Amino acid sequence: MRKRKIFLIAGARPNFMKIAPLWRELKKFPSRFSSYIIHTGQHYDYEMSSIFFKNLGLPRPHFYLEVGSDSHARQTAKIMVRFERVVCDQVPDIVVVVGDVNSTLACSLVAAKLKVTLAHVEAGLRSFDREMPEEVNRVVADALSDYLFTTCEDANRNLIKAGIPREKIFFVGNVMIDSLLNLKREAQLRTTWNDFGLKKKKYALLTLHRPENVDRREVLVNILEGLREVGGHIPIIFPIHPRAAKQVDKFKLGKYFSWQTNSGIYRIKPLGYIDFLNLMCNSKFVLTDSGGIQEETTVLNIPCLTLRKNTERPITVKQGTNIVVGSDPGKIVRESIRIINEKGRRGKIPPLWEGKAAQRIVKVLLDT
Ligand code: UD1
Repeated sequence: MRKRKIFLIAGARPNFMKIAPLWRELKKFPSRFSSYIIHTGQHYDYEMSSIFFKNLGLPRPHFYLEVGSDSHARQTAKIMVRFERVVCDQVPDIVVVVGDVNSTLACSLVAAKLKVTLAHVEAGLRSFDREMPEEVNRVVADALSDYLFTTCEDANRNLIKAGIPREKIFFVGNVMIDSLLNLKREAQLRTTWNDFGLKKKKYALLTLHRPENVDRREVLVNILEGLREVGGHIPIIFPIHPRAAKQVDKFKLGKYFSWQTNSGIYRIKPLGYIDFLNLMCNSKFVLTDSGGIQEETTVLNIPCLTLRKNTERPITVKQGTNIVVGSDPGKIVRESIRIINEKGRRGKIPPLWEGKAAQRIVKVLLDT
């Protein structure tokens, strides 16, 4: 059989853990695949990008498109123009996109227009909220894909309802969990919690970056009011995303943050994958508006409060440890206190979230 050239696309922080297990698995079949990593440069800071390559054992990207931050249209357009050049030059057989960021959307469009086979990993997730840029990205990537690799049954149902032919849908599990399970032991050997002066299971971990939470002052203040109250009961550590950091500074909200780790909200710079995983494993609970962290906490059996009005990952609520609390400070405080008082929810691990998703994806590619 002819050897196929595969492009793995990554652009933003949550993409790196999704391509790493695929990269490793594809490497096991050197006579069947030659794989290349394309980094769009959507995220570019050391803490948002390079450290993840290091932690995950990924090589330097083969192509780096250097797009940087910009408005949605400009960022997407820049990725498209630069990626089109690479595709025309290199002629890959398959382009693999992951998740739902602007890089996913841009590279899907380029592949589809140039008639290159497109595979979407983490297909079919839906929040049914078109105000989220990620929802638009998902809908387009799914509509254009030839292979749709899904993490759960509700994703399969969403795709069928959207009219995607069944033979294109492959329920393979969760590649992000492949990376989590691969590096969990190494993370547990670190003492990140201690290095920050925290006590095991006696702190909460916070992430916050969604535009709907951080881009409007009144919403952000509401959330921080709730968190400040939670911080009176249990210290909260907050590795702050650059978007949130920018907004906190712009709105002059520095007073919400504490300079010590024993109470309040302790703001630190973004962490690499392994240190973050260490903090997650040893926390009492996690407060987040991220998508992936809802899944990771479910697998780690750590209670998670999602600071959003909906989730595209309902399985983490139905089966896992996740509760969607929105941005209402009263609800944030109430649910946090329930967890502090040991009344948090216990969950179970969804089917096929056991570390073999990349193997299944590569098997599909080998067999078709
Ligand atoms: C992007 C994704 C989002 C994902 C998130 C994970 C889209 C539409 N959004 O959102 O789905 O959950 O990544 O982190 O693709 N910045 C830096 N350094 C960086 C990257 C960004 O300082 O390395 C700053 C810039 O000021 C930029 C802002 O963060 O304007 C936002 O970055 P951007 O990539 O536009 O969106 P995210 O909020 O990171």
